[in-house]
Amino acid sequence: MADLDLIKSKVDIVELIGQYVPLKKAGRNYKGNCPFHSEKTPSFMVSPDKQIWHCFGCGKGGDVFRFLMEKEGLEFPEALAQLAEKAGVPLQSQSVGEWGNKNLLFNINELAAKFYEKAMEDSTQGRQALNYLVSRGLSRETAKIFRIGYAPTGWDYLIKFLERRGYKLDDIEKAGLAVRRTRGYSDKFHHRLMFPITNASGKVVGFTGRVLNPEDQPKYLNSPETAIFVKGRILYGLSATKEFIQQANYAVLVEGQMDLLSSYQAGVKNAVASSGTALTIDQLKLIRRYGEALVLALDADAAGGEATKRAIELAATEDLNIKVAILGEFKDPDDCIKAGVDVWKRIIDSAIPVIDFYLDHSIKKFGVDTVAGKKKVAAEVLSVISLLVDPVEKDQYIKKLASLLATSTESLYEAMGKLKAPRSAAKTAEESALPDRDPDWLSKQMLGIVLYRSNYYSDFRDRLDQIKWQGWSERVYESLKNCYTGSEFSLDNLLPTLAYDDRVALLELLMVIEEQYATMGEVDIKGELNFYINLIQRRQVKQTLTRLKAEISAAEQSGDQEKLSTLLEQFKHL
Ligand code: CTP
Ligand code: MN
Repeated sequence: MADLDLIKSKVDIVELIGQYVPLKKAGRNYKGNCPFHSEKTPSFMVSPDKQIWHCFGCGKGGDVFRFLMEKEGLEFPEALAQLAEKAGVPLQSQSVGEWGNKNLLFNINELAAKFYEKAMEDSTQGRQALNYLVSRGLSRETAKIFRIGYAPTGWDYLIKFLERRGYKLDDIEKAGLAVRRTRGYSDKFHHRLMFPITNASGKVVGFTGRVLNPEDQPKYLNSPETAIFVKGRILYGLSATKEFIQQANYAVLVEGQMDLLSSYQAGVKNAVASSGTALTIDQLKLIRRYGEALVLALDADAAGGEATKRAIELAATEDLNIKVAILGEFKDPDDCIKAGVDVWKRIIDSAIPVIDFYLDHSIKKFGVDTVAGKKKVAAEVLSVISLLVDPVEKDQYIKKLASLLATSTESLYEAMGKLKAPRSAAKTAEESALPDRDPDWLSKQMLGIVLYRSNYYSDFRDRLDQIKWQGWSERVYESLKNCYTGSEFSLDNLLPTLAYDDRVALLELLMVIEEQYATMGEVDIKGELNFYINLIQRRQVKQTLTRLKAEISAAEQSGDQEKLSTLLEQFKHL
C-alpha cells in the first residue's frame, strides 16, 4: 500500500478536484458545489492538509482515488492506474486478480458490441434489422449513439469471432455470450436487434436482444447476470443521458428500451429505462446521483400497481421527489411519441405528485360512495402518506384525504397511528433526534471528538474503555490507546499504525468534526462527548438487558437452576 501514499503525496487534490468543480478557498480548506448532488449553497469541501474531500450535504467523501471512482465511475484499479500515471509512479503489478477478471469481461462485451454494430451494417439481414428500427421511427443517428446492432442467425458466429481474437470459450461464457448446448457451445443471441447495456461510465456490461421474427420467443432476451452485470444496479441508457438528467435535475423513468430511444430522439433526453424489471433502491440511488426528482412514465397497465407504490417507499428513504406522468390512452411512451413529440412533452410536464396520483387511483378503484369504499381508500392511501418524511407535506395530504372522504383529520391521524408501525415509530424521541443512516455514527462521533481534542482523553478514558467498540471504531480505538503517552497523543503517531482505508476514513471523520465543532466552545464540546457516551452506555445496557431476559427465560424453561441464579445475579447488577 506504500504506492497509494506515494501517489497521493504527488497528486494535488485541490487541482485534481478543481478540474471538475470550481473551488474557493475557505480558511484552511476549499469549498464548492457538490458534484454528486445538486445544490445551490456549497457544502462540498476539500482539505489539502488531509488530502481528503467530503460533502456535508450528501455525505460522500474520501481520498483522490475515491473521487475519481465516484466521478468517472471507475473501478479502484482504474483510478489507481490513472493517478499513478499522473504522478509518474510506476505500479507494482499487484491486486490485478479480481479486477483482471472483470476487465476481461468488459473487453469481451465491448468487442461483441462492435461485432453486432458491424453486422448491422455489413449483412443483408443486418440492414433489414436497421430497416425495422427505421420503420419504428428511429433514426440512424439514434441507433449510432446507442450502438444498436444485429446478432446474426448462425450457430456460433460471435464465439468464432471472439476466439479468433484470442478469447477463451470459458471466458466468453462467463461474459454471458456463449451458452452450453448438447452439441457444444452456441452464441447466446441469434437473429435479434441488439441493444448494448452499459454501466454509468459507458462500459458495455451486457445486452438486450429484441426479436425480429415475431414468432420467436421471448420478445426481449437479456444477458445473464455476470460479475459485471447485475440487473438491479443498471439503468438502460444512463451513460448517454446522465448529463441531461443533471441539467434538468430530474429523470424520466420509462420501462422499455424502445421507449427510452424514442424519448431521447424526441428531445426528452433526461430519461432512463428500467427494462421491465421492478425498480430497486440501487437504481434510485443511481438516479439520485444526477437529479433530485423522478418522473415515472411507466406503461399504463403498470402505473397504478405495485411498481408505483414500491417507488414511493423506496424514494422516501432516498429523498427523491417522485411524480407520475399520466399516459392516458397511450399504451407506452413509444406509442405516445408516435402521436407527437409535443404530446409526450406535455405529458411529462403535467406529471402529478405521486401521492396525488395514488389518491386518484385508489378512489377510482374503491369508490367513496360507501363506508366500505372509504375505509379501503383510507387504509391504502394512509399507508403511503405515513411514509412521507416531511410533516408539513404529510399534514397537507391528511387534509386533502379528509375532505375527499368527508371525515375529520383527527380520525385519519388516529387511523394512521394504528397502521403497522412505520420504520421509525418504534424509536424513542431521543434516538430519533440523531441521524441513523450509519449504525456506527455514534461511535465515530465520539472518536472524532476525542481525536479533535486529545487532551479530553484522560478525563473520559475509563468510560470510553468500557464501550464495546466494533469494526472500524474498535481498530481505531485500540490504536489510539496504544499511542497514548499519558497526557495526550499525536495524530502523527496514530495514523501510521492504521491500514490505508482506515486512515482515509479517519481523516475524513476529522474533517467533518473540525467543521461541526469549529464555532463551539470547549464546555459545549465536552458536553457533547459526555452526552454521546451516556447515550451509547444506555443503549448497550438496554441490549444486555434484552439478552439477559431471553437467557433467563430459557434457563427457567429448561430448569437450569445454577445458570438461572448466575443470570439473575448479573441482571441485578445492571
Ligand atoms: N421485457 C423483457 N422481456 C420480455 C418482455 C419485455 O425484458 N419478454 C422488458 C423489455 O425491456 C421491454 C419492457 O419489458 O421493453 C416492456 O415490455 P413490453 O411493453 O412488452 O414491450 P415494449 O417496450 O412495448 O416493446 P416493443 O415496443 O418493442 O414491442
Ligand atoms: Mn412498445
